[in-house]
Amino acid sequence: MTSDMVAVDQDLVELTPAELKELEAVLTGGRIDVVTAEATKSSVIQVKGLSAYFGHKQVLNNLNLDIKEREITALIGPSGCGKTTFLRTLNRMSHSVPGFRHEGEVSVMGQDIASVKDVESFRRKVGMLFQRPNPFPMSILDNLTLALRLFGVSKKERLEIAKAKLDEVGLYEDLKDRLHHSPFALSGGQQQRLCLARALAVEPRILLLDEPASALDPKSTRMLEDLFMRLAEHMTIVIVTHNLAQARRIAKRTAFMEAGEIVEFESTHALFTKPNDPRTRVYVEEQIG
Ligand SMILES: Nc1ncnc2c1ncn2[C@@H]1O[C@H](COP(=O)(O)OP(=O)(O)O)[C@@H](O)[C@H]1O
Ligand SMILES: [Mg+2]
Repeated sequence: MTSDMVAVDQDLVELTPAELKELEAVLTGGRIDVVTAEATKSSVIQVKGLSAYFGHKQVLNNLNLDIKEREITALIGPSGCGKTTFLRTLNRMSHSVPGFRHEGEVSVMGQDIASVKDVESFRRKVGMLFQRPNPFPMSILDNLTLALRLFGVSKKERLEIAKAKLDEVGLYEDLKDRLHHSPFALSGGQQQRLCLARALAVEPRILLLDEPASALDPKSTRMLEDLFMRLAEHMTIVIVTHNLAQARRIAKRTAFMEAGEIVEFESTHALFTKPNDPRTRVYVEEQIG
């Protein structure tokens, strides 16, 4: 940028570094590149005509959506509308429920979930966090290294990975002298971060989060949200949340589901500020109160 341009900026207003960067991008034409990069982000999950059933009961009806890489996508909607079933279909967990079947195509990182033979290796790429933290009944260290041991990673390397992942979720300093202790003495927020570190230990490409902060206090919730946003710089995250403010804070796109269908799937901002479907508007207004 020339010095003239900078002078113009300063005359206008005080700009934040982010605004300045954006202005600079516009002036230099860089913005077009940014927009193009967004548009060409590839879809890491492609869902076409997905319907799902538990026995005779249909719970998902003809879902169609593409989830882009390195983004947070939120799923919102009333209880019982099928969010958890959808999320668990993506890593084939729903398939272990007797009577479950699906129709349509779900491609995860280019692989049709119907044709997955080695579920263990497949799930290595698709990590999951649940509503309640679920540490295994073993030491903190063993929680972090169990999967690595199954995958044949050496003891030395396992310890290094465990420490690095604890550090990544901000727990290393607190827990470094307690690696051999039980995880159950930790607070709920710490337990959930430990479960996140455990999921991250096998380097998944995708994280599925089912209301991961619903049992946590606001401070732990924010801490997790910050982690998710940082992780989304290099991985894809799909989060079910009943907390609409949370979706607005962290998700790039949001899908609103009702009665087993996707009513609307939009950029988060558009979905909350100018929904296309009256059902979305009603739900958002009711939730916000
Ligand atoms: N294991 C199961 N067997 C039978 N029906 C189920 C099972 N799990 C969920 N359902 C039903 O599927 C529907 C969707 O549930 P779910 O995916 O848990 O919704 P949400 O996560 O949006 O609350 C509900 O009607 C629920 O009762
Ligand atoms: Mg659910």
